[in-house]
Amino acid sequence: MEENRVFEPIQISCVTVPNRIVMAPMDTNLATKDGYVTDELIDYYAKRAAGGVGLITVENTSVSAKRMVKNEYSLALYDDRFIDGLSKLASAIKREGAVASLQLGDCLYLSNRKPSDLSLEEVEEVIDDFTEAAVRVKEAGFQIVDFHMAHRYTVADFLSKYANKRTDQYGGNAAGRAKLAEMIVRKTKERLGEDFPVICRINGDEYMVGGNTLVDATYISKKLVRAGADAIHVSAGGRLELGGNRSYSSYRQVATHDMQDGLNVHLAEQIKKHINVPVITVGKIGSPSLIEDIIQNEKADMVALGRAVIADAEFVNKMKNNEKHRKCIWKNDCVRLYLKNEPVKCVTYEGK
Ligand SMILES: Cc1cc2nc3c(=O)[nH]c(=O)nc-3n(C[C@H](O)[C@H](O)[C@H](O)COP(=O)(O)O)c2cc1C
Ligand code: SF4
Repeated sequence: MEENRVFEPIQISCVTVPNRIVMAPMDTNLATKDGYVTDELIDYYAKRAAGGVGLITVENTSVSAKRMVKNEYSLALYDDRFIDGLSKLASAIKREGAVASLQLGDCLYLSNRKPSDLSLEEVEEVIDDFTEAAVRVKEAGFQIVDFHMAHRYTVADFLSKYANKRTDQYGGNAAGRAKLAEMIVRKTKERLGEDFPVICRINGDEYMVGGNTLVDATYISKKLVRAGADAIHVSAGGRLELGGNRSYSSYRQVATHDMQDGLNVHLAEQIKKHINVPVITVGKIGSPSLIEDIIQNEKADMVALGRAVIADAEFVNKMKNNEKHRKCIWKNDCVRLYLKNEPVKCVTYEGK
């Protein structure tokens, strides 16, 4: 029988990840109101690390107090005072045998701004804020930094041909729109050294008329790898322009029960043909057979699980041992908790 490659290690730059499963970054609402780590948050991630995930990505963490990714209960790293708590979190993840990564993000839409509203100084400030926060990620003991360049956040706004109407060097054409993202990667590499791995999470398609397509995403991926990215994580959608949380784009980010399984795999598969670093796929992947199909057939190098590991923290161990897991039913009750600012958990299996 063919060797099951899902449980084979993989290198992301100098870091060895013990298997091909990533926990997708997902807000938990378990931070304090002002962005510090809590014991509940450490416990939540430690359980998923103990459950067999190879690479844990800690949720979207704000690089700036002025452009928080969420108004409350989400992690922050815009100051050294946040490092202590985050280093306890990184230690707990590593103690359980997983590689620890943290996602950094920045947000304009909560203050109703778009790329063209920012002065050149403010754009440079965004780059510096990401770079400084990345230095803190390393100081806290995380092994990888993940830049949130997808969905509805600042870097994605700049990358998007729908959202970025700037006419200067940070807009105007595809190269201009990619410049902010590229500069963040380049400056981070300068500060942290070539060896510290950087993952860029991008939209493989914005699923929005006038928005970025897979053609744009392929170009962006190549640019980011040239700038130093060590892996590309291909998400999709999550734009709010054409219908807010009920837009088609939004549903493509967190696909529901009536949408197809593995609905973004083709995006990763296509991008993978053009770059020579690991490519991660994500989106409605919840069965061992689908994970095996993706990895064995090299459609992507790694598979990220989101709601599947909210529903069952032990999913990966159970898959390895051929045991039954709790199946996510993709009805998004956990997402509704997130939107109400309540702690995220699996409502379907609560108390079971
Ligand atoms: C409750 C919740 C919170 C999320 N928060 C983030 C986040 O902080 N950063 C991010 O890039 N994506 C976030 N996402 C998107 C997930 O990372 C993932 O791409 C999406 O859930 C699709 O994967 P799944 O079908 O395996 O759940 C979130 C999704 C959920 C369900
Ligand atoms: S609440 Fe529903 S969508 Fe969320 S993890 Fe549980 S089963 Fe999946």
